[in-house]
Amino acid sequence: MPIPRRRALAILGGGSILAALGGGAAFLATRTPERALAPWAAAGRYSDPRRNALSYALLAPNPHNRQPWLVDLSKPDTIELYRDKTKDLPHTDPFSRQLTIGMGCFIELMVIAAAQTGHGVELDLFPKGEGGPVARARLVPDGTEPDPLFAAVHDRRSCKEPFEDRPITPKQTALLKPFATIITAADRVAALVALTWSAWQTEARTTRTYKESVDLMRIGKAEINAQPDGIDLGGPFLSSLALFGLLSREGQLDPTSSQFAQGVALYRRILHATPAYAALTSASNTRADQIEAGRRWLRLNLATTANGLSLHPVSQALQEYEEMREHHDRAHQLLAPKGHTVQMLGRLGFGPRVAPTPRWPLETKIVDA
Ligand SMILES: Cc1cc2nc3c(=O)[nH]c(=O)nc-3n(C[C@H](O)[C@H](O)[C@H](O)COP(=O)(O)O)c2cc1C
Repeated sequence: MPIPRRRALAILGGGSILAALGGGAAFLATRTPERALAPWAAAGRYSDPRRNALSYALLAPNPHNRQPWLVDLSKPDTIELYRDKTKDLPHTDPFSRQLTIGMGCFIELMVIAAAQTGHGVELDLFPKGEGGPVARARLVPDGTEPDPLFAAVHDRRSCKEPFEDRPITPKQTALLKPFATIITAADRVAALVALTWSAWQTEARTTRTYKESVDLMRIGKAEINAQPDGIDLGGPFLSSLALFGLLSREGQLDPTSSQFAQGVALYRRILHATPAYAALTSASNTRADQIEAGRRWLRLNLATTANGLSLHPVSQALQEYEEMREHHDRAHQLLAPKGHTVQMLGRLGFGPRVAPTPRWPLETKIVDA
């Protein structure tokens, strides 16, 4: 995973870079990729209840921000939801388990948003088996009550930052328990820190899996606006590094480069600054289980937001490829009863407020409408 947004400047002497750019303040002010973030403001501005619900659903968390959703609105009151297979992640997600979880996050957000306009959603998962749509959803104006978690939709984030060195409170733990297994015991937290850090390094040092992330990097405002998905390395700091040739896809891929070393150091810090974890498991591992895990993760992420906490999925140890096997086994030993599948693992704690990530507009996701 490449270096997180905005953190690299101090290490690489970015203050002087900005000074060298001259007019630093003006530069800072113009680096926001407004076009890529426009879907956050557009959510809820549609009169058609389906488009309205979808305009929120596309703000869902999803692996590598691939946004693999496509919707067919050609049947009245109905949304046929497809997973766009051109967005697959064959190296880090060879069975599309995580991408399917992302579709579950999308579905849950769609259901929560539909309730805001008094619509219930009749949901038929995989109506034609795995080859067809992920879901057929019919919106019914049945006076469904709004969901209190909706209030957190705009502020929900995956927070890829170090968390404060303070425990989450017993009250917060109790509030989150209906959503996921919450891990706060020091020995278990320490074991998971060690696991997530080892697994992260395995992904980063396995060229084909690391390249999958690096290929999806969008560096600087122009790239992010042109392709509002993937791993966005924007903002004034990283943009200035890129301008000075200190941040590039080539540099990120080279394990002997200083960029790579900085990325490793930063992620080490992030993963170690973790007071608690949340985990989701399932007894079986069907596509329906994966959708259900996504729906639960979305609700957990909204609940953490509503309770002043940050959540950051850390999926490396859950990934299914040969080099990761040892960590995958360890994750299951630590988190799952025998034979169950760990679907999600996330860092939990007090993180800083972070910017929203880019999204493709709804109009680009409608097929055959
Ligand atoms: C199934 C799944 C797995 C994810 N795994 C990771 C991960 O391993 N590391 C990470 O930094 N983010 C991970 N994410 C978070 C996504 O990167 C994030 O949802 C996406 O970039 C959009 O950002 P947002 O959630 O802040 O809107 C994962 C999300 C999902 C749904």
